[in-house]
Amino acid sequence: MNTVELTVNKRNVQRAIEPRTSLADMMRDTLDLTGTHLGCEHGVCGACTILVDGVPTRSCITFATACDGADITTIEGLDSDEIATELRAAFTREHALQCGYCTPGMLVSARDLVLRLPEADEKAIRVGMSGNLCRCTGYVGIVRAVKSVIEARRARDIASEPNAGRTVLGPAGSGHKACTVSEKLAPTKPITTEATAAIAPLAIPDFTPSTVMEQSFTVAHPPAKVFALFDDIAAVASCLPGATLTGTPRPERVEGGIKVKIGPISANFDGAARVERDEAHLAGRIIGIGNDQRSRSTTQGEIRYRLVPEADGAATRVELAIGYSLTGMLAQVGRSDLVRDLATRLVAEFAGNLDRRLSGGTPSVPTAAADLNGISLVFGLFRDRAARMLQRFTGHGGAT
Ligand code: FES
Ligand code: FES
Repeated sequence: MNTVELTVNKRNVQRAIEPRTSLADMMRDTLDLTGTHLGCEHGVCGACTILVDGVPTRSCITFATACDGADITTIEGLDSDEIATELRAAFTREHALQCGYCTPGMLVSARDLVLRLPEADEKAIRVGMSGNLCRCTGYVGIVRAVKSVIEARRARDIASEPNAGRTVLGPAGSGHKACTVSEKLAPTKPITTEATAAIAPLAIPDFTPSTVMEQSFTVAHPPAKVFALFDDIAAVASCLPGATLTGTPRPERVEGGIKVKIGPISANFDGAARVERDEAHLAGRIIGIGNDQRSRSTTQGEIRYRLVPEADGAATRVELAIGYSLTGMLAQVGRSDLVRDLATRLVAEFAGNLDRRLSGGTPSVPTAAADLNGISLVFGLFRDRAARMLQRFTGHGGAT
């Protein structure tokens, strides 16, 4: 067995695998990323195309061990990618899929073309997509979809990137490890517990959230006092149900996790965040990235806040814009309305705890976390949902 370390869809993973394991099998069988399809398993059909260090690659004929250290993006990792989003809409609009088996590979290859081609030249698109076979559509819709996305982006003055920004070309997986002979002869790396230890991401990238929701609450304390408390990361974390910190928090890097559970859905996101503050406008931003090892899901989140004085400065309205993107298994079950309900309740718990803390009391975090983890939250969600449905049918407001 060999140990392979990869960054897959922004998540660090380490697995012990047979040297003969293909990258496609590793994605599908050990990481549950089954959006990577297998057709021919001979490098002909393109159904298994994924990005290795940004380069579209046939994962069925690429050994996973050859990619140690590489940055992998599968179709699941393109959920919130801007070009992939435009392509998905265009594929739907232009009827560019029927059974959909070829579609994940098509989208990965098409995204690369959208990045690279200076203009929407049909011949160049057909040549560029010729490594992806489709047995259903006849290609007309696919070509039209790719063409329309390139045209729309160039019309918006988004220029092409020569070579899609690549600086290294070569066999997949070759660009990231300068492997010397002595390294090759060195004993294989020890395998850590189950080879699945959570590794906090090194970089906390900026991102465009796929979902943004706005919330606000008011506390009976002046804005300056609230802003000062927001500077105390440990205090803020203690007000958030289910949140824990590991290590000493610094604004440029806060490490920790948050545990959420709704009925059968349970997740424990470990990760890191950075904090930005704008003193002049009593505003700030927290950007984080976390992984849930159990569900193999990754989330990126951003909270923007702004403090607005109320009651002649005696109280503060805290305005929040909460954005997030979710990939992996939880993205399939964590519907946005469910996440929205959960966020509403988390914010309500946070507001109560913040108020208690500002008044000199202790946040009731353990109780709040238990409530969120328990049946009360599920009942709460159903009660609110039922009230909304009743309101829709009767035209009258129900008690919530
Ligand atoms: S399954 Fe990889 S190219 Fe066909
Ligand atoms: S849509 Fe069926 S193979 Fe392409």
